Amino acid sequence: MSRRAHLATVGAILAAILIFIVPFAVTPVVASSPPAIPPAASAYLEGCGGCHGVEGHSLAERVPDIAGKAGFFLCTQAGREYLIQLPNVAFAHLDSTKLAAVMNFVVFDMGRGSAPHGAKPFTPSEVAALRTKPIDTTALVALRTGIVTGIVARCPKAVNLNAYGGGL
Ligand code: HEC
Repeated sequence: MSRRAHLATVGAILAAILIFIVPFAVTPVVASSPPAIPPAASAYLEGCGGCHGVEGHSLAERVPDIAGKAGFFLCTQAGREYLIQLPNVAFAHLDSTKLAAVMNFVVFDMGRGSAPHGAKPFTPSEVAALRTKPIDTTALVALRTGIVTGIVARCPKAVNLNAYGGGL
C-alpha cells in the first residue's frame, strides 16, 4: 500500500470511529444534565428555603411549615396582606415582580391545593403596595393567631394552621 493510500485508510478508520463514538460520548452528558429549576422556585430556595426548608417543611418549631398550607392565607384579605407584609417577605432582596412570582409559587405550587377555589394570584403592583407597610409588631404570633382565626372561620380546612404558634 502506498504511503498516501495508507494515510487515507487510517483517516477513514478514524472518521468511522469518531462517527460512532462521538454521539455516545455526547448523549449521556446531555441526558444527565439536571432539569431546569423555574426562576421562582430557585429564588425561593435562595431566599426562603434556608428557614422554611427546600420543600416547605421547616423541621423547626419556630418556623411554620408552608407546604400544603400557605394557600389558606388567601381565604381572607387580612391573610393575603399578612403574607406580603411579613418582614422576611416584605424586605426580601427581590423586586416586586420576582417577589410576586415567588409568593404565587409558595401559595399555589408549594401550597398544593390549600388556596381557595378562584383565589387570584398576587400581582407585582399589589405586592409593591403591600410591602411598603411591613408588619412592625414584636407580637407577631398574636397577630397571626387573630388572622388564622378569621381564616378558619371562612375555610375550615385551614385549622391545621393552628399547629404553629401554640407553644411559642
Ligand atoms: C430567617 C428565617 C426566615 C426567612 C429567610 C423567611 N422566613 Fe418566612 N417565616 C419565618 C418565620 C419565623 C415565620 C413565622 C412568622 C414570623 O414569626 O415571622 C414565617 C412566616 C412565613 C409565612 C406564613 C406562614 C404561617 O403559617 O404563618 C410564609 C408564607 C412565609 N414565611 C414565606 C416566606 C418566603 C416566601 C420567604 C422568602 C422570600 C421567607 N418566608 C423567608 C422565617 C423565615
